[in-house]
This record gives sequence, C-alpha cells and structure tokens, in this order.
Amino acid sequence: MPRCSHPTHAPRPFPTLCHLHHHRVTDQAFVTLAADDVYCQGALVLGQSLRNHKTSRKLAVLVTPEVSSGMRSVLSSVFDEVIEVDVLDSADSVHLALMQRPELGVTFTKLHCWTLTHYSKCVFMDADTLVLCNVDELFDREEFSAAPDSGWPDCFNSGVFVFRPSLRTYNLLLRFAAEHGSFDGGDQGLLNSFFSNWATADIGKHLPFLYNLSSSSVYTYVPAFNHFGRDAKVVHFLGATKPWNYKYNLQTRRVMQDGTTSGSFHQLSFLALWWNIYSASILPLLEKHQKMEDSESEECKHAFNGVEVTLKKISPCVPSSLPMPELPEQTNEVNPTACSPEELAFKAWLYFSNLCMKSNQEILMSISLSLTDLQNNRYLNLCFRKPQK
Ligand code: UDP
Ligand code: GLC
Ligand code: MN
Repeated sequence: MPRCSHPTHAPRPFPTLCHLHHHRVTDQAFVTLAADDVYCQGALVLGQSLRNHKTSRKLAVLVTPEVSSGMRSVLSSVFDEVIEVDVLDSADSVHLALMQRPELGVTFTKLHCWTLTHYSKCVFMDADTLVLCNVDELFDREEFSAAPDSGWPDCFNSGVFVFRPSLRTYNLLLRFAAEHGSFDGGDQGLLNSFFSNWATADIGKHLPFLYNLSSSSVYTYVPAFNHFGRDAKVVHFLGATKPWNYKYNLQTRRVMQDGTTSGSFHQLSFLALWWNIYSASILPLLEKHQKMEDSESEECKHAFNGVEVTLKKISPCVPSSLPMPELPEQTNEVNPTACSPEELAFKAWLYFSNLCMKSNQEILMSISLSLTDLQNNRYLNLCFRKPQK
C-alpha cells in the first residue's frame, strides 16, 4: 500500500508550530457532492478519511432533494454541514454518450459549490475520492487549481480543485453553460472551457498528480507508479465502476475480484482501503441509524378489502386494549363493511403477521392497528399483543 510521506517524522525545531497546525480554520472547507443515496456512501468514506487524517478545515456536503432524510442525518454525523441544492443537469445526452457516462449530466450540480460564500476558500472533492493523508496544504493554492486529467493532460480533472466561493463566478459559470454548454456534457468540460488558461498561465495552479491519482491510470504507467506512487495523497476512483459496486467479504476483509480489477494489485489495495473505512466507520453509522428509524413509530398503510388499514408500530410497553383473538388456520374473505370491528381487526392482524413473515422482519411485541373504514367514515384504533410462543 502506497503511503504518504509523513512530515511528522522530521524533527520539529519549533514546537509551537504544532499548535498552529491543529488550529481550526472555520472559514475554509472541503466540499463534496452527493446527488443520490448511492453516492452518499462515497461522500461518507471521503469525509471519514479527511477526519481520520485530522483536517483542520470544515467539511461540507451538497445534497440534492433526492437524498433521503435518513442519509442526510448520517451525513451530518461526519460532515459539519449538509446543504441542499437544486439539481443542475446539462441534459446533454449527445456529449455524455461520447464518454459512455449518461449519468454525468447531474455533475453540473457541482457548480453550486461557488455559492458557499460563508467560506473564503474551499477544496472540492468528488464523492469517489479518498484522502491517504492530511492534505490541508491544498488551501495554500489559489483558484483555480487542479491536477491534470490522465486522459487528456492539457485538461484538468475536476474531481479535486481549489476555488473561491463567489456568486459572481457562479452566475458567470451558469451563463457560460447556457451559452456554450460543455464539451463532455459534464462539469469537467465546462470548467476547462471556463478556466481555459489553466494549461498555460500559472504552473502554481497545477496540482501534483498525487492529489488526484486516478486509480485506473495506475496500471497504464506502472513504472511511474512504482517510483512515485508511495507519495500518493488522494485516490480518485474515476470511471463507471465505483468502490461501492464491488463485493467485499467482511470476514476476510477482501474485495472480491472480477474481470475489471484483475492484474491491478494497486487498484485492489486502494479498493481495500476504501472498504476498510466503509466497514469500520460507515457501516456502523448506517446500522445505528437504521435501528433508530425502526424503533421510531412508523406507519404503513394498506388497502384491506376496501378498507384502508394503517399499521403503526408502537413500543412494546404500550398496554394492549383487547386480548389477542384465537387464530384459525385460514379465513374467508369478508366484506369489511359487513363485518364487525373485531373481525376486521382480526383480518388486519392476520395480514400484518403475514407481512412480517414475508418480509422476514422481527414480529413486534405489540402491534397497534388503526383501521379506517373509508366507506362509513368509522375510525377504529385497536391494540393487540402478539401471542406468546
Ligand atoms: N455524482 C453524484 N451522482 C451521480 C453522478 C455523479 O452524486 O449519479 C457526483 C459525485 O460527487 C461524483 C461526481 O458527481 O463523484 C462526479 O461523478 P463521477 O465521480 O461519477 O465521475 P468520474 O469521476 O467517474 O468521471
Ligand atoms: C470527469 C471527472 C468528474 C466529472 C466528470 C464529468 O471524469 O472525474 O469529476 O464530474 O468527468 O465532467
Ligand atoms: Mn469522480
């Protein structure tokens, strides 16, 4: 596994510098984007990797309305800020098809990062990147700094870049997008045309490739990787197959290999690193959150013989108001308006226990059933205790 060189190994002549290093910088942030719950997994691993390497900067994640509230609350346990933005989509299927990545139109949403004007300077990082060491020195760079793209090195790759939030720049970018579009249909084509002197004007704005090492280029130039790779600082899992698309064996702690990873030991070791962070730090967060959601009262509506049945989970300590009816093996369908509330509730209970068995969920200790008879506008609220085994 390549490792960053650790400056901490060098003698420190001025111990006070240590303190300066740990100083929190609240007006600068690392920013990423998650346009859906799937990419949130990447954002979480990236955020955790920045935390693990003790960044002194804030962590912000842009989310679209599509990101679920559950995911947002998990994100907020890793990020300082979870910011909802509208989806900006290039809708440029023609250019996206040239890259064979029809899904990348939404990457225009990245442009919202320029609206974060409560920060003076930021580093944007794709949700499919991972830091291997502290990279806070990136904030010493100016807008617009980025590393060369491995596919076309006179272009920068827009997976990692330094920028200054500004509504003026944001509006200029939107106008530019409306007038010229993007040559790749995504943000990278647009940004390269907008910051068009990047290739020639100022070498200080060329980040070393080590800050955006695309894992796929590792095996296109193996000798260079062998020579420089140990100093890699940021890995970028660029391309259609993302770390979360692989299978991982939690016991052996190995990424299952398939055709696309064969022959690339380094790519596999970066993948394993991603999965280590995911399984050690992110999965427990997701599971903890799932448990909390399950225990919260949760309603499930279902039409039951024309009657809307609201099944509501309640905590086990709620006393039951009716004894559990004796259950025969099977019942006939009855017209709900013709049957008694008890019969109706009984049918609903049967339905619910079937549902529980089908979805292989743990059957709750007690079940609260709210039955709404839509035709007669009757409302029943019945409580049953699960039969003791
Ligand atoms: N993205 C997203 N959902 C998508 C596609 C993209 O959230 O369906 C965001 C995410 O931050 C991602 C970035 O846009 O890292 C750029 O897309 P991607 O990394 O897939 O492009 P690549 O680097 O592979 O060209
Ligand atoms: C690139 C970049 C990515 C960008 C995409 C679309 O390959 O890695 O960050 O969103 O192209 O332009
Ligand atoms: Mn990417």
